[in-house]
Amino acid sequence: MKNILSMSQLSNQEVQDYLNAALEFKNGRQSTIGQGKFAVNMFFENSTRTKSSFQVAGIKERVCRSGFDAEKSSTKKGRTFYDTCRTLESVGADLAVIRHSQDEYYNELLNRNFGIPIINAGDGAGQHPSQSLLDLMTIYEHFGRLDGLKVGIIGDLSHSRVAHSDAEYRTQLGSEVYFGGLNSWYTSEFQAMGPHKTVDDLCKEMDVVMLLRVQHERLSAEENQDFSKADYFEKYGLDMRRVNLMKPDAMLMHPAPVNRGVEIADDVVECDKSYIFKQMINGTFVRMAMIESVLKGAK
Ligand code: CP
Repeated sequence: MKNILSMSQLSNQEVQDYLNAALEFKNGRQSTIGQGKFAVNMFFENSTRTKSSFQVAGIKERVCRSGFDAEKSSTKKGRTFYDTCRTLESVGADLAVIRHSQDEYYNELLNRNFGIPIINAGDGAGQHPSQSLLDLMTIYEHFGRLDGLKVGIIGDLSHSRVAHSDAEYRTQLGSEVYFGGLNSWYTSEFQAMGPHKTVDDLCKEMDVVMLLRVQHERLSAEENQDFSKADYFEKYGLDMRRVNLMKPDAMLMHPAPVNRGVEIADDVVECDKSYIFKQMINGTFVRMAMIESVLKGAK
């Protein structure tokens, strides 16, 4: 049985295979891999993009969707996470796409009797493999390669599963990774991967500038109290002055949701250098490739 849990489990060849399959889907390849299969999206944390693009990806591959709404489920009556997952498996789901606020929530399922494949749609501040793959696809489409690029990740690094999975995989790929934003977010794990620079320098030097949202839901009450949007925007936010420092073919990316006026100015969201909506388009095709791979690998 095949699960997709983190970027670190994927070899460079496997990543390239996912990107090739996603590009084939984007170019019109059809798949009926999901015919007669049931997938359940189990999102125990909020999501717009990931949840809806897994839904669309599944529909395009003829996967039947089994509805699940964590807010209206019996988890509210005390059913545990494990029992909820086992319940959906028992009623006939063939694939579970799961997002949960707990890092590595999937270990409990792997160590017990859960018997259907898992695609990790985000675990706490851990990993977000489908986001990393769609980011890589978008970069690959633009530059025609993934190696030899300088990638700068700016923002709330330590709380971000996107930063963790993107930075770790870029390092595995042999790319240069740099970081920006508050020093307190540039923790030892990121220090081991690449240097910290000012936002102006990152804009001038990087091939890819990747912004992250400030994850207020993961900050302490004290950190939230001390946070000033205006201050943050001035020090670390991308406005058109900073966009104009970027190299002519550099890309501006963001996993979204964007917080306009905090890490990104309103007029930057859809500026010429922004690939934010192209990332979203590619997300559906990458998720098709992931669903296809997992269903092919299922018993
Ligand atoms: N980037 C991302 O995971 O977005 P959602 O939280 O809307 O799924």
